[in-house]
Amino acid sequence: MRKQLRAAVCGVGVVAVMAAVWATAPRAHPFPVAGASADVSAVEPEPAPPADQPYIGFKECASCHFKQFMSWKKTKHAETFKLLPEKYRSDGKCLKCHTTGFGKPTGFKDVESTPTLAGNTCEMCHGPGGRHAEICKGFGTTLDEADEKKARDSIWRVIPANICIECHMTQAHKESPTPKEMRDE
Ligand code: HEC
Ligand code: HEC
Ligand code: HEC
Ligand code: HEC
Repeated sequence: MRKQLRAAVCGVGVVAVMAAVWATAPRAHPFPVAGASADVSAVEPEPAPPADQPYIGFKECASCHFKQFMSWKKTKHAETFKLLPEKYRSDGKCLKCHTTGFGKPTGFKDVESTPTLAGNTCEMCHGPGGRHAEICKGFGTTLDEADEKKARDSIWRVIPANICIECHMTQAHKESPTPKEMRDE
């Protein structure tokens, strides 16, 4: 019951946060299900996960969250690195928005050494999850309530800062305009 309510409520929060990009949103993870309730009062605040987690890339996440992985794979976020032409694939100006964790010690470096952080991957929205994965690997096949709480408390359901705005609503290409040869006209 608590789980259901929480999922519904998060969906509503997300709708508010994402309003500006909503119109073009593909119907895939992380976009919320229909019939979400607006009652936020019964939900306790999200605990902060361990702060010192390394980035581990989408393949690790997919090993336990296959459904979300399949859904994310269909979104444009999964392709944001691939759409960069060769010569921009090592350009830090582009990589900060077209990869995950660029500039952080364990974040994207280059496509050879960190292929599963190329593009806007799971950890862009959930934060780095290395410790979360470690914690969850210790559990058996069935989770009791205490284990489930440990699992959930070790990663953000959604990073609390409005990360969407960092890339989408500050005229993303003002300082790094889409190169001439890549424009439609
Ligand atoms: C070893 C298995 C395992 C791995 C690897 C793993 N998770 Fe999880 N994750 C879980 C379990 C178990 C839960 C508890 C709830 C559930 O069953 O979905 C969970 C819950 C979550 C939640 C919900 C948090 C909440 O507050 O409700 C998110 C988001 C999440 N994981 C994201 C990720 C991301 C991103 C990665 C990769 C960086 C990842 N997970 C890697 C097992 C794993
Ligand atoms: C501040 C974040 C940011 C930076 C920096 C950035 N991009 Fe983007 N890029 C975006 C976003 C967000 C989109 C999605 C479309 C939009 O909202 O403008 C996008 C879309 C694109 C597209 C799809 C076509 C288009 O123009 O909509 C291409 C190609 C692209 N970027 C290339 C680049 C290149 C090359 C660089 C570096 C010179 C770069 N981007 C730097 C955020 C950024
Ligand atoms: C663009 C942002 C974004 C990306 C990228 C993303 N997620 Fe999520 N994810 C969310 C949001 C937002 C929610 C919360 C939905 C809700 O509460 O209704 C969520 C919820 C979850 C949950 C909790 C269970 C659920 O489905 O509600 C898991 C597990 C999860 N994501 C795993 C992943 C994994 C694994 C990836 C990569 C393969 C991924 N996410 C990529 C935004 C994202
Ligand atoms: C690190 C940068 C970054 C962040 C953060 C980010 N995005 Fe994106 N997003 C992009 C880029 C780059 C594209 C362009 C993909 C393309 O044009 O192929 C994109 C594309 C999209 C699209 C597809 C638009 C279309 O034309 O179909 C949607 C919807 C979207 N983002 C929503 C979100 C939401 C919601 C969040 C916050 C939870 C978010 N984004 C956070 C970089 C980002």
